[in-house]
Amino acid sequence: DGTDPGELRTPIVAVLGHVDHGKTTLLDKIRGSAVTEGEAGAITQHIGATAVPLDVISDLSGRLVDPDDFDLPGLLFIDTPGHHSFSTLRSRGGALADIAILVVDVNDGFQPQTLEAIDILKRTQTPFVVAANKVDTVPGWNPQPDTPIQGSIEAQSDRAESDLNDRLYEIIGQMSDHGFSSDMYWRVQDFRNNIGVVPCSAMTGEGVPDLLAVMMGLSQRYMKEEMSIDTSGPGAGTVLEVKEEQGFGTTIDVVLYDGTVREDDHIVVGGMNEPIVTDVRALLQPRPLAEIRTESRFETVDEVVAAAGIKIAAPGLDDAMAGAPVRVVRDRGEASVIEAVEAEL
Ligand code: GTP
Ligand code: MG
Repeated sequence: DGTDPGELRTPIVAVLGHVDHGKTTLLDKIRGSAVTEGEAGAITQHIGATAVPLDVISDLSGRLVDPDDFDLPGLLFIDTPGHHSFSTLRSRGGALADIAILVVDVNDGFQPQTLEAIDILKRTQTPFVVAANKVDTVPGWNPQPDTPIQGSIEAQSDRAESDLNDRLYEIIGQMSDHGFSSDMYWRVQDFRNNIGVVPCSAMTGEGVPDLLAVMMGLSQRYMKEEMSIDTSGPGAGTVLEVKEEQGFGTTIDVVLYDGTVREDDHIVVGGMNEPIVTDVRALLQPRPLAEIRTESRFETVDEVVAAAGIKIAAPGLDDAMAGAPVRVVRDRGEASVIEAVEAEL
């Protein structure tokens, strides 16, 4: 039932980078949807969460990800805004992440929020890769939709290939200026000491199979060594948004990063004035591949296992705060859980 002790938790992958460098488009490519088109001025203003199951990752990766090689249930992608005014949301996304994708537009290179994202990744010691996005904008590019990037590069003219290489080495140089050794991902042996650069296009999908394969490899190795977490304990999460939901009153969208939440669980949520102590009335799960922010059809479930994006309906959530912690009490003392929530605010 997904709660066997020792089962690997779904890794949380934050997607960070400067405004318009293509974070949401990249996730749209993976989701096969178009959240970007529904966004005001196409600028992301919230944190989003999308669960992508292992079989979908495997399909999208061509033959690069063999599901038999992985114990992971999939990946939970966290979309963050790149606009300068949303720095709190970027830190929150970075803090939640097990691993991250730093999206850099190959035309634009490093920009202020690229640097800010790098600082967050350094501070939180989050392993990451660089998605060198928009390779299709290199003059004379001959698009090879949805293919692995090395084959696509072979199909380019010498001129386009060398133009792309110039831009990629520019990015590698900028990484070095900020204290990171990096190289094309296919030359990287140890992804924690040497950051992999994955050339890709969120528009045409070239390089996206590679990006998924690298993220799976990175999380499998990283999770196994450092966080083979028992997912059956009382849940812990972070509030992304507080929202009215028809028929449910005020609800909270939560990224559950550890343990489980069940219907009727006693929970403590960080509030505007004081911690809110309440009981889960309903757990509303977005469909697989749906973005929790824009999902309209939730399924009611009895239990959710980390990591997951979940909407929680409970009485008394009006004063809940985005960014605040959520903790399941279950068999622990309520007072100690309240104290833990207060300490985190
Ligand atoms: P914020 O959420 O505001 O930080 O932006 P974002 O990083 O999510 O960028 P978004 O995905 O909204 O893309 C910005 C623009 O770049 C859109 O017009 C996309 O269509 C375009 N774009 C994204 N990726 C690519 C790509 O690989 N190639 C090309 N040609 N355009 C792209
Ligand atoms: Mg966006």
